[in-house]
Amino acid sequence: MAQRGADGRETWTSSTGFILAAIGSAVGLGNIWRFPGVAYENGGGAFLIPYLVALLTAGIPILFLDYAIGHRYRGAAPLAYRRMARPAETLGWFQIMLSFVIAVYYAAVIAWSLSYFVFAFDLRWGDDPRSFFLNDYLQVGDPELSTSLVAGVTIPLVLVWVAVLVVLALGVANGVQRVNIIFIPLLFVAFVGLVVRALTLEGAFAGLDEFFTPDWAALADANVWIAAYSQIFFSLSIAFGIMVTYASFQRRKANMTTSGLVVAFANSSFELLAGIGVFATLGFMAAQQNIAVGDLEGLTGPILSFVTFPAVISQMPGGNIFGVIFFGSLVLAGFTSIISILLGVAASVQEKFGLGQRASAVTVSAICAVLSLALFSTTSGLLALDTVDQWANNIGIVFSAIAMAILVIWVFRKGDVLRRHLNAVSTFKLGRWWVLLIGALAPLYLGWMLVQRVVVLITEGYEGLPQWYLNVFGWGMLGFVVVAAALLSAVPWRGRDNPDFRPWPALPEEPEPLARPDLPRQEETR
Ligand code: PHE
Repeated sequence: MAQRGADGRETWTSSTGFILAAIGSAVGLGNIWRFPGVAYENGGGAFLIPYLVALLTAGIPILFLDYAIGHRYRGAAPLAYRRMARPAETLGWFQIMLSFVIAVYYAAVIAWSLSYFVFAFDLRWGDDPRSFFLNDYLQVGDPELSTSLVAGVTIPLVLVWVAVLVVLALGVANGVQRVNIIFIPLLFVAFVGLVVRALTLEGAFAGLDEFFTPDWAALADANVWIAAYSQIFFSLSIAFGIMVTYASFQRRKANMTTSGLVVAFANSSFELLAGIGVFATLGFMAAQQNIAVGDLEGLTGPILSFVTFPAVISQMPGGNIFGVIFFGSLVLAGFTSIISILLGVAASVQEKFGLGQRASAVTVSAICAVLSLALFSTTSGLLALDTVDQWANNIGIVFSAIAMAILVIWVFRKGDVLRRHLNAVSTFKLGRWWVLLIGALAPLYLGWMLVQRVVVLITEGYEGLPQWYLNVFGWGMLGFVVVAAALLSAVPWRGRDNPDFRPWPALPEEPEPLARPDLPRQEETR
């Protein structure tokens, strides 16, 4: 029987359950598939500086903000924001719709990993992994919308969606938490084994050199900084409404900030580990070909995992075991993340429309499954995926973080009550700097970066793709997210928006008056 809180809301059964689930959400394809390439493209070793700055100035503070909102107002993103301040519901839907878009393509990458997990047993990609991936497996076509389904992608994609549906239908504790308790330790052991093996390969250290050698000039480039911030948001699953939802299932008396620190550092450690593993492996490949690591091709994006890696695996003694573990890890990591996204979406729909848990799980998974089959198991999948990823992550999520900071701190002035909420339940206490950091630094700095990125995408386009294509999959997709968010918040609330909901612990919701004696020096810090 699932455990329930005083308000009847299902809860994680322990803090460990919550922490593992939150790590499960954070550690995903973003760590293994996205981070090494992004880091390499944006200055290698020097990228670690913007990355750490982003983690400390925005990653951890916004993770706390997500936790505070969900934990205090006890709802999936739309309900939690609405309880905080009615009009903020739209922001909740914006974040949830963005997650929904990500789920649609994320599932496709998990499905590819699942296929490759099977292919690794007999190295089915043969001696030309590039042509195998593009022509035989994905059957990539023109950037036109195509409707011909590719069976090799369709079958694993259906499997992924069925598995997601089953876990969601089992609920928070029996489904999501249980999967994470099993998968996360398993993933950790498998991945550490993989990295150790990679480090013992010939040439491994040349790969690490390449990864860690800083290109200092990159630090002067705004695009590098935005890449660091988007990587942190994506990787920690923050500003997507997902961590708001996860925190809402946490018991009322629960140490939130300490859990947050554990999650954030676990995620970044895993990310670094993945970078080390991937580059050690690439070092081996370069050594085999007698070239420098920097001269290897295909070090980013889907090509890194699905073309370059298979090529290395084929050359390695015992490569198939390595391949099976590598793609198996991608599947485990990706699966625990996608269930977090879908839980966020399904819980939002459930609360708004007053559906049952199963009914909302089925509805939401079915819609996502149909969309991801239509868009990504056809011959035009790869390009669409790359474009959607670019816009959702470099524009959508950065915008979401800025909007959240401005609305919560400046418009609805909830920074202080949220800070006191976290401090009332946690042992790691937050000072006023936390509100200041989110309220000032985040919007100004992130805002500046966002403008730069938008200008680049407008003036230079993206990867030479036709403008109509970007208008559909890039700008159009964002437009859809905005419109859907507005419509969903306009629909009358049919579910549980219990009018006598009272946040716990009882704290004055208004910011405290400036001259309170227990808050000395406030004028000075302003
Ligand atoms: N954090 C996950 C990863 O690194 C992806 C994710 C994004 C999960 C947004 C939930 C919400 O792969």
